[in-house]
Amino acid sequence: MYILGKYPAKGLTDELALIDVMEEKLKGEMMDLQHGSLFFSTPKIVSGKDSRVSVNSKIVVVTAGARQQEGESRLNLVQRNVNILKMIIPDIAKTSPNCKLLVVSNPVDILTYVTWKLSGFPKHRVIGSGTNLDSARFRFLIGSRLGVNPTSCHGWVIGEHGDSSVPVWSGVNVAGVCLKNLHPSLGTAEDKENWKTVHRQVVESAYEVIKLKGYTSWAIGLSVADLVRTLMKNLRRVHPVSTMVKGLYGINEEVFLSVPCILGHNGITDIVKLDLNFEEEKQLKKSADALWDVQKDLKF
Ligand SMILES: NC(=O)c1ccc[n+]([C@@H]2O[C@H](COP(=O)([O-])OP(=O)(O)OC[C@H]3O[C@@H](n4cnc5c(N)ncnc54)[C@H](O)[C@@H]3O)[C@@H](O)[C@H]2O)c1
Repeated sequence: MYILGKYPAKGLTDELALIDVMEEKLKGEMMDLQHGSLFFSTPKIVSGKDSRVSVNSKIVVVTAGARQQEGESRLNLVQRNVNILKMIIPDIAKTSPNCKLLVVSNPVDILTYVTWKLSGFPKHRVIGSGTNLDSARFRFLIGSRLGVNPTSCHGWVIGEHGDSSVPVWSGVNVAGVCLKNLHPSLGTAEDKENWKTVHRQVVESAYEVIKLKGYTSWAIGLSVADLVRTLMKNLRRVHPVSTMVKGLYGINEEVFLSVPCILGHNGITDIVKLDLNFEEEKQLKKSADALWDVQKDLKF
């Protein structure tokens, strides 16, 4: 299904269009949402099996595609989901030529690249949800360890949304106090407090939830709604989202990876260049190489 704003309860849009090829499921989802109309401010909810229902959208959230099965990696989904994007992105680009495309389908970084190519849009209007979710998981887990609300625990996971994501330990802080200054081995193999497991838990989160309930939905839905809010309201907040990083951090290929980006009405307006240490930059380059390795052989 690809939609304009997955969580209309946030009241971010006055019109929501749902699109899916499974017509009965689609009608059921539309009716279920319409029946909730009393409780949120999205007066018009429509659905259909192609982009004629979403003409001139401001934001199109792309979630169409196969999801991971238990134990399956995100990268494994790639060619199946590329084929689906080939069917939908050119139409969306034609019917909503000024929209921002927010890609969620996995593997999200590669599919954001494919969406960029298929749409012909400028790169600032093609955004992958990327590590916005990984960073939220990271902050939740740090907060749980410290007994501090995650909104007050700052930290970034960048790179691939998935197995090669990079935790920026050098930037983890509470109220501007860097944890690495207090505990220099933070996140390293020598760390007796073993903070490294926090990042391992982030990487394993999706696999674990999928094993337990079959799919992930709440955290990704909430984190995408948060991105949509920043874009719709032109908040210019900084989010870790997937963007074209060729030329940054020694990356020479056209790959999409998450780095902190300023988002607003025009999509991505600026990238915040992080001051990474040698090890972090090396890991980011490795993440880019892992993606390019899959991307270079794609047929679309
Ligand atoms: N980036 C992230 O953090 C993140 C998190 C969760 C899920 N995902 C990804 O999002 C995608 C969707 O996951 P889900 O759990 O919602 O799966 P789902 O199976 O519930 O929904 C996918 C929908 O896509 C539809 N679809 C398939 N082909 C289509 C087409 N050509 N046009 C329109 N719709 C089409 C299907 O009918 C289905 O309803 C998967 O790729 C999943 O891996 C990404």
